[in-house]
Amino acid sequence: MDWTALMDLHGAYERSRVLHAAVAHDLFTHVAALEGQSGGLPVPGTAVAAAAGTDPRATELVLNALAALGLLQKSAPEDPEAPLDSGGFNTAPVAQRHLVDGCDADFRPFIRFDMDSWTHWELLPDVLEEGGPAMKDHMYQSDPEATRRFIDAMESIGQARGDARVLADRIDLGRAVHLLDVGGGAATYSLAFLSANKHLHATLIDLPNTLEVTHDHVAKAPLGVRERIRLVACDYNNDDIPRPPKTSSLPDALVKDLKKLGMDDNLLPKLSEGYDIAWVSNILHGEDEEENKALARRLFSVLRPGGRVIIKDHILDPTLTEPQVGALFAVNMLLFTKGGRNYGFDEVRRWYEDAGFVDITEQPPKAPLTSSLVVARKPGGGLQEELSRAMKLAGEGVSGFVKSLTGRSG
Ligand SMILES: C[S@@+](CC[C@H](N)C(=O)[O-])C[C@H]1O[C@@H](n2cnc3c(N)ncnc32)[C@H](O)[C@@H]1O
Repeated sequence: MDWTALMDLHGAYERSRVLHAAVAHDLFTHVAALEGQSGGLPVPGTAVAAAAGTDPRATELVLNALAALGLLQKSAPEDPEAPLDSGGFNTAPVAQRHLVDGCDADFRPFIRFDMDSWTHWELLPDVLEEGGPAMKDHMYQSDPEATRRFIDAMESIGQARGDARVLADRIDLGRAVHLLDVGGGAATYSLAFLSANKHLHATLIDLPNTLEVTHDHVAKAPLGVRERIRLVACDYNNDDIPRPPKTSSLPDALVKDLKKLGMDDNLLPKLSEGYDIAWVSNILHGEDEEENKALARRLFSVLRPGGRVIIKDHILDPTLTEPQVGALFAVNMLLFTKGGRNYGFDEVRRWYEDAGFVDITEQPPKAPLTSSLVVARKPGGGLQEELSRAMKLAGEGVSGFVKSLTGRSG
C-alpha cells in the first residue's frame, strides 16, 4: 500500500457517513420524486432540503458530496454568474436501482441497519484493549425493533446483490424434497429455492423474535411457494432440530425403483426421515468453534444418508486474511458476538469431517457473491443403502419386500 492509498483508507469513514446521512433523511427518494415532478429536470438543493425538512446549507454540501461519489449527477447553473448553489441534482442509475423508495433492489434497509452499528465500531479501540463484544445485548432477540431492522437488512442485501436469485439458479438441489434452512432469517433463500424447485419443501428454524419478521416476509410470497414452507422456533444450539414432516418425500426415481422391487407403500415415508439438504447461510461466523462443531454434529443427525449441508459464508484462506471482506467482517463479529469470527476452510472441513461428513469442498466466491459455498455430504444414500435401511425399519412386516430382495421367504 502506498501513501495515497493509506490516506484514502484513513478517510474512508467520510464516504460511509455521507451515504448514511443521505439514507437517514431519504435524500435519494426526495431527489427522485422532485425530478419526477419536473419531468426529469435537475432539482435544486434548496427544493430537496424543503422536501426532506433538512438544513439547506448542510443539504447542499451533502448533495455535492453524493454527486462527487457518483450517487447523484449535478448540472452546473447555465448562467456563469449564478450563485454556486443554483445547480441542480439528478439521481444516478445506481441510486435509482438501490436507494429510492419503491426501487427494484432496495439496499436502504441494510444501510439503515449498518448505521446502528456505527456506535459499536466507535468502541473498537476499547474492545481491542478489553476484548469483545461491544454489543452487550443479544444481537437478535433483545429488542424486537432491532431484530426487525437486522432481518430486513439481511433480506435487503440478499435481494439487492442478487444472492438469493443467483444461488437458486446456480445450486442444483437434485431431487431434494426436504430442505432445512438453519437460522433462515427473512426466508430469503428458502423462498428462492422453493420458487426454483417446485417439488421442494422447506423447514425454516430460527429464534422466536426473528420468526415474527420471517412470517411477514413469507406472507408476501405467492401461495404456491409459501404453502411449502414451515417455520419452527428452534435454538439450533440448544433445542432438538425438528425432523422433516412425514410427507411423501422420496425422490420420484427412487420411489419407482423401490416399488419395482416390491416395496410396500406404507413403508415409503419411513425412508425419508431426514432432510436432503441443510442450508446454512451466514450462520457460522456468528458462533464460536465449539458451537460450530456441535452444529455440524446436529446437522449430521437430521440429514438422510446422502444428504448435503450447504454452507454460505465468508470462508478465509489459511492465513485468515483473504478475502479482505471476510477478514474485516471477522472484526464486525468481534464487536457483535461473544465468540464469532470468520473461519478458514480447513477449520470448517475439520468440524464437518469429525461430525462424519465426506466429500467436503469449497466453492470460492463468484460474482456477484462475496461469500463462499462449502458443501459436505453425509455418507450413504445409494439405492442399496436406502433398501437396507428400509429392511431394518420394516422388521417383520414386509416379508414380500424382503422376499423380493433376497429371493427367499422372510
Ligand atoms: C446473519 S442472519 C442470517 C439469516 C439468513 N440465513 C440469511 O443468510 O439471510 C443469522 C440468523 O440466525 C438466527 N439465529 C441466531 N442464533 C440462532 C440460534 N441459536 N438458533 C436459531 N437461529 C439463530 C438469527 O435470528 C438470524 O435470523
